[in-house]
This record gives sequence, structure tokens and C-alpha cells, in this order.
Amino acid sequence: MQIIDGKKVSEFFREDLKSKITDFYAESGRRPRLVVIIVGNDPASEIYVSNKAKAAAEVGIVSETVRLNETIGQAELENVIWGYAKDDITDGLLVQLPLPKHLNAERALALIPDDKDVDGFSVGNTGRLCRFTGDGIYPCTPSGIIQLLKYYDIPLSGKRAVVVGRSNILGKPVALMLLNEDCTVTVCHSKTKNLKEITLTADILVSAVGKKNVITADMIKDGAVVIDAGITRESGKIYGDVDFTEAAKKVSYITPVPGGVGPMTITMLMINTYQVAVNHNEKR
Ligand code: GUN
Repeated sequence: MQIIDGKKVSEFFREDLKSKITDFYAESGRRPRLVVIIVGNDPASEIYVSNKAKAAAEVGIVSETVRLNETIGQAELENVIWGYAKDDITDGLLVQLPLPKHLNAERALALIPDDKDVDGFSVGNTGRLCRFTGDGIYPCTPSGIIQLLKYYDIPLSGKRAVVVGRSNILGKPVALMLLNEDCTVTVCHSKTKNLKEITLTADILVSAVGKKNVITADMIKDGAVVIDAGITRESGKIYGDVDFTEAAKKVSYITPVPGGVGPMTITMLMINTYQVAVNHNEKR
């Protein structure tokens, strides 16, 4: 059994990115620019946003965090987003989710143009992923999962992959990416019947639920690769979806929580920001 070390792989990618951004700066005289919009004071979002700013500084990306009041109205929020959407200096633009309940996230996100959509959440980029065009910007956590599998040389072609969870951020895009890697993919969700019967068929099991211990060892095939992309916070501690201690006894590879998928998400965001900046240099 091998533990997939997301921190180590993440550092590898960040070092590579740092040198690419040094070259980018030498050639263009500017640095990639990322704008992160956060509304309200959700504690988890605060942590993500400050980690994004730290990671950006570390790799040489200029980042701006735009903090908006919890009580902001839809029109005002859309005005702020639109300002960054149409300027000529912002490369990457994202709105930290979730937004407060009174705001319409779909309408807000729809203002982010495909070429600045570093989260890969836009309808256009979702379409590019679905059609495997190869030129889209793809969601960070799913991309991070695929990079982890590739880093550890885990064979994907022809393997049976089971994804538990169907969110737009994680379950759906990672299922498409695994399909693109020639896996045979099944997506399970809260209405799936006989979940265990299906997860037991998985060579590669990706859990993206966000519920502690929803995947127990008896649901995992011997020798499977288990990717735990769930996060639950409980009295200051972070838990994944998988009962790690028991699962670790029967898998070939497994990601821990924390230290597995998590560190890759922000690294992929930095890579996406660099990529859109390169695209902008070619166009602007
Ligand atoms: N909230 C949780 N994950 C994410 C993410 O990947 N992007 C954004 N914008 N918000 C999130």
C-alpha cells in the first residue's frame, strides 16, 4: 500500500510553475494576475482565499483579494465582477463559493468570461471538458486528482472508475476527466441504490461527498486505488469521506485527508492562472 502524498506532488508542480513564471516575466515584463472575490466571512472560505493569496505570492503571481460585505445585493456584486471581467489586466478571475444564500451564484458566475475562468466552472469551459477539445480551463480539484494518478503512474486506460458524488465542482468534472483517460466510469449519488455493490467494482474509487466515513473498508475492492476528495470539518479537525485506517489495509494506493487531494487544488488554480495569462499574452 502506498500513500499518495499530495503535498509532495504539489511542491513538485509549484517548483516547475515558479520557473515557468520567471520565464514568463522575463519575456513579457509582467506577471500573471489573479483576482479572488469573497463575499462575507465564511471561515472555510476565508482559509481557502488566504491560502490562494499565499500560493500566488510563492509562485510569482500577483493576486488581489476583493472582500465584499455579506449584505451586498446581486446587482452590486455583478457590477464588481463585471469590472474585472472586462478589464485588460486581470488574467484569472474567480468568485469564492459558496455565496451567501440571498445571492444567485449561477448568475454571478455567468459574468466571468471563459478566458478568465480559472475555476473552469463556466458553461464554455464545461463544454470544452465534455467534448475533450483539449483547449479549455478545467476545474482545479478534478485536475489535481488526475495529476496525482499520473504522477504515481497509476494505469487508467480500461480501468473501472467509480465516482461517488455528482457536484458541478467535483463529481461531474472528475467523471468526465476519467472518461477522457479511457476509464469505464460510473457516477453514484445520494439516490443510488446498492452503493456498496457498485463501489466494490471500482479499480479506482473517487469519493467526493463531504461526509465523514461514508466509504467504509467493506465497500472497497482489494487492491483498489482510493482517492478521497471529501472534506468535513468537525471540532477543528478535517476528515475525508473514507475510513482511512481500515481502508489503508486493503488498497494499493490511497490519498490521506489532509495532505492528499487538498494541496493539489490550489496548485492547479495557480497553473490555470499561468495558462490564462499565456493565452492573454498571445491575444492582447
Ligand atoms: N469553494 C470550494 N471549492 C471551491 C473552488 O474550487 N472554487 C471556488 N471558487 N470556490 C470553492
